[in-house]
Amino acid sequence: MTSPTTPLVTLTRHGDIALLSIANPPVNALSQGVVDGLAAAIDAFEADRSYKALLVHGEGRTFVAGGDINSFDDPDFTAALYNGTLARIESQDRPVAAALHGTVLGGGLELALACHHRVSVPGTRFGLPEVKLGILPGSLGTQRLPRLIGPVMALDMIQSGNPIGDAAALKAGLIDEVQSGTPLEVGLAFTQALIARDAKPSRISERTVAMEGLPADFFEQALAQAVKTKPFYPSARNIVLAVKASTLPFAQGEAEEQRLFEALRISPQSQAMRHLFFAERAASKIPGLPKTVALRPVKSIGILGAGTMGGGIAMNFANVGLPVVLVETTQAALDRGLGLIRANYEASAAKGRMTAEQVTARMALLTGSLADSALAECDLVIEAVFENLALKKQVCARLGAVCKPGAIIATNTSTLDVDVLAAATGRPADVVGMHFFSPANVMRLLEVVRGAQTAPDVLATVMQLARTIKKVAVVSGVCYGFIGNRMAEVYMRQAEFLMMEGASPAQVDGAVEALGMAMGPCRMLDMAGIDVGAKTVIEYGKAGGLPPDPSYRALVQKMFELGRFGQKTGAGYYRYEGRKAVADSETVRLAAELAAAHGIAQRAGHFGTPAGQQEIVERLLYPLINEGAKILEEGIAYRPGDIDIVWTAGYGFPDHQGGPIWMADRIGLATLAERLAHCAEVRGNAFGYWTAAKLLTDLAAQGKRLSDWAPA
Ligand code: 3HC
Ligand code: NAI
Repeated sequence: MTSPTTPLVTLTRHGDIALLSIANPPVNALSQGVVDGLAAAIDAFEADRSYKALLVHGEGRTFVAGGDINSFDDPDFTAALYNGTLARIESQDRPVAAALHGTVLGGGLELALACHHRVSVPGTRFGLPEVKLGILPGSLGTQRLPRLIGPVMALDMIQSGNPIGDAAALKAGLIDEVQSGTPLEVGLAFTQALIARDAKPSRISERTVAMEGLPADFFEQALAQAVKTKPFYPSARNIVLAVKASTLPFAQGEAEEQRLFEALRISPQSQAMRHLFFAERAASKIPGLPKTVALRPVKSIGILGAGTMGGGIAMNFANVGLPVVLVETTQAALDRGLGLIRANYEASAAKGRMTAEQVTARMALLTGSLADSALAECDLVIEAVFENLALKKQVCARLGAVCKPGAIIATNTSTLDVDVLAAATGRPADVVGMHFFSPANVMRLLEVVRGAQTAPDVLATVMQLARTIKKVAVVSGVCYGFIGNRMAEVYMRQAEFLMMEGASPAQVDGAVEALGMAMGPCRMLDMAGIDVGAKTVIEYGKAGGLPPDPSYRALVQKMFELGRFGQKTGAGYYRYEGRKAVADSETVRLAAELAAAHGIAQRAGHFGTPAGQQEIVERLLYPLINEGAKILEEGIAYRPGDIDIVWTAGYGFPDHQGGPIWMADRIGLATLAERLAHCAEVRGNAFGYWTAAKLLTDLAAQGKRLSDWAPA
């Protein structure tokens, strides 16, 4: 941390060059102090005509990585001051250069674009990622970038938010040169050369946008496309409008960008996405675990079970160059598992996402075996065998014996008691849950399940490893289903009751998909497998976990009995034509039959009405949120934001809604408590389905937010 006395921006002399250095670790974000410091440094530069050029440079691991995202919540936030400083930088009559390294993002790239000349070191990344925060570049990125690299590439960079590398940046003319060396050395040499050749200031704002060769309705088409493909994101629309404004005189474009930016900054979508930005970073921090804890080395991975999950998990490690040995029970299962991995990689290569050499290199990291002894030297072994407690206990006992001392033993169980499995190994301190989500090579979430005896270094190692394999890790305590599946169980329970009351799968799914859920509960389970879902319910029943309610998830169990396993068998809640889900009257009939058997009254007509759709939303999401409150109350999740990350990164919950807990605060806790009480009264509450969490009712009574809650 920078102490309050350390200046954030300094101006020092290097011969004829004034060196402006920004030092605001860790990423040189543009806090108010930095913006003020920039203005003061420009004052000093302007006051001293003996300088021949100005060089802007960032200290530490990166040039400026953007505006300070914290400051966007400030009611007095304004980009005007920063924009004014950028204008002053650009208007200098002596050359201004930027020396770029690390991640030159957002307001950082906008700063570089205000400079006259740009040089970078190899490996630098350049981008305008504001869209990922639900906003647009608000300091003239939408105006300068299209003028510099053309509207097509600029629009693509701003719409996707994805950074480009130095080679692409050089090719596009975003930077003038790439030179090896430290950023400071490179910057000084570059600036010296500018002085030597008497380079004139090159001001991007004085250029015009090259529209030649583009259709006359280029922006109209882009707008239509944005509105169609991103209906939940106002930023998609505003970005096109802002880039379109770059074809106007600069000052007019600037005013338009400001107007469009400001509308987004205060939008609920952007507030939700900014919350997730910080929640994701907070999730990696484990209370009480010092940063200094020594990590266990992880250089080789073993995986037991090369099925759907084992194969996907293996790919994560091969992708980052770590060798993996997969152990199976039969050669056929092993061949199938390795074959699926190869097919997956080849499909990526066919789409141009990787080269044939990369496929070969990754496959070379994967070996197979039928013997446990192949796992003996691995630093981390993950079991991903069938979800069956007896089998997993037996497998864990074997792993406890075969794995070398100090090796980490992880289980990918979705629901089982990690402490029971840890005990079975005979070395519970080495055991942790690593709950990947399907498809494991794609989904970003990793739930890390902390057992009662998991050693701190095991936990810290696994959290770090998650970063290495580009997952977002959230720690969960031990309970049925951990954070995600425990909440999903409540959600699925309600979906089934609604169907037994006469709502069609399409009505159930449609109600939450209208809020932006990637998939409603029926489509989700059809994809994951009704058999997987039903078996979990059956197992949980056997373990005594289910309420004494004979209608509890009766539909999923019935469909399992009938072999309707979802997409994989061509029928589940829906019927499948290829991958396309079509309504199936058989589901409706089965649900009605079960309703009659369990004495549940049908109200089919109601669910097609607006009131019926609202009822579906409330009955699906309010109990899910309520379960989240219980998870917090019980200390299963460390913090409210962790739950939001689990649902947005693992279950397709819309990021523009901020996750279930963030959403709860938008609905209002008092409203939630009142609606749960209403359902309890109308629907009956024999099994406690509608009983509000104490935390929820307490906070509602105090007028507080769930998102702000922290354990005492
Ligand atoms: N504002 C405030 N804090 C920021 C920040 C930002 N723009 N960028 C990063 N941080 C903080 C993080 O919260 C984290 O804090 P913590 O240690 O207290 O948790 C710390 O910096 C380190 O960040 P990461 O853990 O993410 O570090 P990585 O090395 O993994 O990644 C990074 C670095 C690629 C720069 C990544 O932090 C990132 O993508 N940052 C956001 C970049 C961005 O969105 N920039 C645009 C901002 S909006 C803007 O500029 C508006 C302008 O147009 C007006
Ligand atoms: P799967 O049935 O596709 O694969 C299981 C594999 O384990 C099979 O290939 C089987 O041959 C192998 N196996 C069984 N016993 C073994 C043993 N003793 N030694 C070595 N291999 C053995 O199952 P899937 O879906 O991959 O699930 C595995 C685990 O992952 C389960 O615990 C499941 O709950 C969990 N999980 C599954 C998710 C999913 O969506 N499928 C999501 C997250 C977790």
